[in-house]
Amino acid sequence: MAGVPDCKRLRMIRSVKGALQMAALKDRRLACTVLSVIMLSCTLQVPIFYVLARVSTLSCFNAASIFRSFSLNDSVNASDRIRRITANDQPTESSPADSSNIREDQLNTLGFSTLNKVDTNLQQSLHRHGYAHYSFVQFNSYRESARAFYVVGITSAVNKHFDHPVHNCEWLSSQNSTNIHVTKANMIYVYYDQFPRLYVVATVNCTFDEDVGMDDLGGSLIITVSVGPYPGDTEKAVAMVEQQGAASEFVRKRDNPPPYKIAFCGPPMHGNIRAEWIVHWLVYHHYLWKGKEHFFFYNVGGLQDHHHRLLDPWVKSGYLTIIDASDQGQYPSWYHNQLMLANDCLHRTRFLASWTFFHDLDEFLHIPPPRSLSSLLSRYRDKPYITFGSIGVNLTICADPQSADLAADWPVQRLLWMHKRPYCADATFDPWVCRQWQGARKYAANSRKVYAAAVHTAARPDVGGADLNATIATMYHYHGVLSTQANICQVNVSLSLPSSQLKEIVPEIADYNKEYAISKTTTKARKSMDLTQLLLGT
Ligand SMILES: *[C@@H]1O[C@H](CO)[C@@H](O)[C@H](O)[C@H]1NC(C)=O
Ligand SMILES: *[C@@H]1O[C@H](CO)[C@@H](O)[C@H](O)[C@H]1NC(C)=O
Ligand SMILES: *[C@@H]1O[C@H](CO)[C@@H](O)[C@H](O)[C@H]1NC(C)=O
Ligand SMILES: *[C@@H]1O[C@H](CO)[C@@H](O)[C@H](O)[C@H]1NC(C)=O
Ligand SMILES: *[C@@H]1O[C@H](CO)[C@@H](O)[C@H](O)[C@H]1NC(C)=O
Ligand SMILES: *[C@@H]1O[C@H](CO)[C@@H](O)[C@H](O)[C@H]1NC(C)=O
Ligand SMILES: *[C@@H]1O[C@H](CO)[C@@H](O)[C@H](O)[C@H]1NC(C)=O
Repeated sequence: MAGVPDCKRLRMIRSVKGALQMAALKDRRLACTVLSVIMLSCTLQVPIFYVLARVSTLSCFNAASIFRSFSLNDSVNASDRIRRITANDQPTESSPADSSNIREDQLNTLGFSTLNKVDTNLQQSLHRHGYAHYSFVQFNSYRESARAFYVVGITSAVNKHFDHPVHNCEWLSSQNSTNIHVTKANMIYVYYDQFPRLYVVATVNCTFDEDVGMDDLGGSLIITVSVGPYPGDTEKAVAMVEQQGAASEFVRKRDNPPPYKIAFCGPPMHGNIRAEWIVHWLVYHHYLWKGKEHFFFYNVGGLQDHHHRLLDPWVKSGYLTIIDASDQGQYPSWYHNQLMLANDCLHRTRFLASWTFFHDLDEFLHIPPPRSLSSLLSRYRDKPYITFGSIGVNLTICADPQSADLAADWPVQRLLWMHKRPYCADATFDPWVCRQWQGARKYAANSRKVYAAAVHTAARPDVGGADLNATIATMYHYHGVLSTQANICQVNVSLSLPSSQLKEIVPEIADYNKEYAISKTTTKARKSMDLTQLLLGT
């Protein structure tokens, strides 16, 4: 019988089913404990059985069928209950899940045999369906200091729960094979902003006890990845190779001011994207950030040739980097692996920019005067991050084009009707400072102070930042505009009409403020000289 520690673990486990799975994976002793508890409580009719039965009917069914072979008293209510559950759980002849429309010869070609006589020499194969779960899928690795590295990737949610995807990190010098450093891998999981899917983001923090590779001779970072149910079932994988001279290059970057003031990390670009809108978004933010920025876009299949033609001038001018990560689709995770890509971008930009912004291409940042973006960034320069409130924009109501040439006015210049209050999913919060996802907030991270990114706020550290009142800094959210399927400007209204008349034509207009800020800034941005080259590629 297992000792006290196993019983402690047992209490921590939420369901017997989970316990059985874990036991199967990890510990036969635990399996015995679980089964013994179930069988003992079934025999003694103690209440724990009923609790377990309620928590996990499936496991109790399993337990009960084992138990019944030990002559269960069929007349007791608990076993009645089990039989009822059994009857409901088993597919019956008439169940829609049955295979009555598959012929027997088809079944045989699939490898399933129908047993007409007792065969004493059975061969049964396993047939896989769906996806394999990998313990660690590596995306990219970054040196963070003389002794610390971060390996950005994803792990199977099951693996994360029952095992360590990565156990150790090793540094091997390229020049001196006896110079080996080993450290424990520290996993960073992001608990925000993802709905459960097969894969979750997992960054490996490899921090050694002393400096590694600083002799500038080059070396490799090796990770020990879990590949089976037992502690010794591991495999070594190269996470990063540092070339000769790269360490001193790192020191130079770390010890000098970053080349950009701002880095932008875009969301995964997928689906049918309105190409012109992206350019309009770039023009606006390029003006707002005064050309001191660098944009990172992650393409997961949304960028086609016509997008690339429009974006090429930005790439060639050195403002935009497009990272193609289309194969992420093989590893199902929340929203096209958005969190993994955000974490990649955080580490990628650590020594490139003072601040890294994480928002979407349907969101426009606005800081009303008298404050400015630079005054805010310098005021909060010691904070790890600052977050901005989100205000929705109506995509249906547009101002009439101001000139005869329709193309002369971009949609963002005519979408003027904005909600009166910021979005907040929790009515008990002050909507103006509604934190994290409840407020659909977006943020800028002080890249050297943050080690994990979520979508709506920094994840490590997740406290100590400044959640700005939406009156101070706002993301205007043109939700859904990016998709070419969205119909925009279905109601055009003339700005010369008095507001009472406007309200008669479009009563919903009363729910919105007419807000010119983004429109006016876009107009100024379009007039700014250095855009000619970026817009026309000349
Ligand atoms: C089964 O339990 C019932 C009531 O709990 C009892 O009357 C009966 O004698 C038991 N039967 C056996 C075979 O133990
Ligand atoms: C079984 O349950 C019924 C009602 O569901 C109850 O009346 C009866 O007393 C129970 N019998 C035993 C042996 O617990
Ligand atoms: C190689 O590394 C080991 C361990 O760090 C060290 O003791 C040894 O002096 C090194 N050899 C050379 C040639 O640098
Ligand atoms: C990384 O690991 C080191 C050593 O275990 C630890 O001191 C440090 O706080 C970790 N960093 C993060 C961001 O988790
Ligand atoms: C935008 O305004 C129109 C009225 O013109 C209304 O029908 C629509 O529901 C509004 N959209 C949103 C997202 O509020
Ligand atoms: C945020 O600003 C609004 C509007 O000025 C104000 O009503 C609200 O009290 C402010 N909230 C906080 C927490 O400062
Ligand atoms: C509103 O203006 C746009 C031009 O941006 C035009 O395509 C659209 O048809 C107009 N809508 C209506 C209802 O007139």
